[in-house]
Amino acid sequence: MPRIAYVNGRYVPHAKAAVHIEDRGYQFADGVYEVVPVHKGILVDEELHLDRLERSLRELRIAMPASREAIKLISQKMMRRNGLTNGFLYMQVTRGVAPRDHKFPTGAQPALVMTVRQMRPAPREKLEKGISVITVPDLRWARRDIKSVSLLPNCLAKQQAHEAGAVEAWMVAPDGHVTEGTSTNAWIVTQDNKLVTRAATYDILNGITRIALLQRVAEAGVTFEERPFTVEEALKAREAFITSSTNYVMPVTSIDGKPVGNGHPGLLTMRLREAYIAHVEGRVPAETHAA
Ligand code: PDD
Repeated sequence: MPRIAYVNGRYVPHAKAAVHIEDRGYQFADGVYEVVPVHKGILVDEELHLDRLERSLRELRIAMPASREAIKLISQKMMRRNGLTNGFLYMQVTRGVAPRDHKFPTGAQPALVMTVRQMRPAPREKLEKGISVITVPDLRWARRDIKSVSLLPNCLAKQQAHEAGAVEAWMVAPDGHVTEGTSTNAWIVTQDNKLVTRAATYDILNGITRIALLQRVAEAGVTFEERPFTVEEALKAREAFITSSTNYVMPVTSIDGKPVGNGHPGLLTMRLREAYIAHVEGRVPAETHAA
């Protein structure tokens, strides 16, 4: 089946899909995006992703490129036309095309692009061994709650992780506290079995996986704290993991080359992964208590 992209009202072959060189996304990273997981043809937490898209756009004073209903219809068409059952839908909205000038253009139409991608299940090895992360200074701007396409510090950090043989980089604020991963939220389980993740302020992106997982955690009666943690605390933690639409819940077993806990994926982490998968599949999860 040929890959199809959606570009400003048209469904076009992916290889031929293009935007104008004066699109402000290209010139200024003046746009936002969403990555929505697709499971068995269903967009997981679609409403939450659209809420976040609307919020990101509002914060940047970019209009919605189409109504919410129209975006949902385009999403459905994209999945059908691409025969997508499992993977994710990418959508990007920019302020539109205008002669290069920093201030907002008048009369530009916001531009909407969508693509889809098949996702293979996480390799068994990754789940059995967990992933390693490195820590790097957080070089980003002060509004990380906006899902902006301006991802250069994230790309630099991810590449640094890759070159160090790690999978993700945890970015660390000047005060020594971890903010989040380059494309994931960061979590630890303390020695006394408290789940800790940073509160959703301007400092991090409020992950939809994070939101869904916190709901499950609250329902299951697991104790959790939304607060910053340091790299030292993470190294002393019993477990660590990351969450995102593309990783779901993924155990972290080493930080900067040092093992987390016993160096194996944690029990609570794997239970939370199961609970999140149950959520994705629309099932009621098995019990998820702290050990
Ligand atoms: N990244 N933090 C950052 C900086 C992110 O870029 C992402 C998502 C997350 C997790 O958010 P969610 O649970 O909604 O996926 C946290 C996407 C997957 C990406 O850039 O590809």
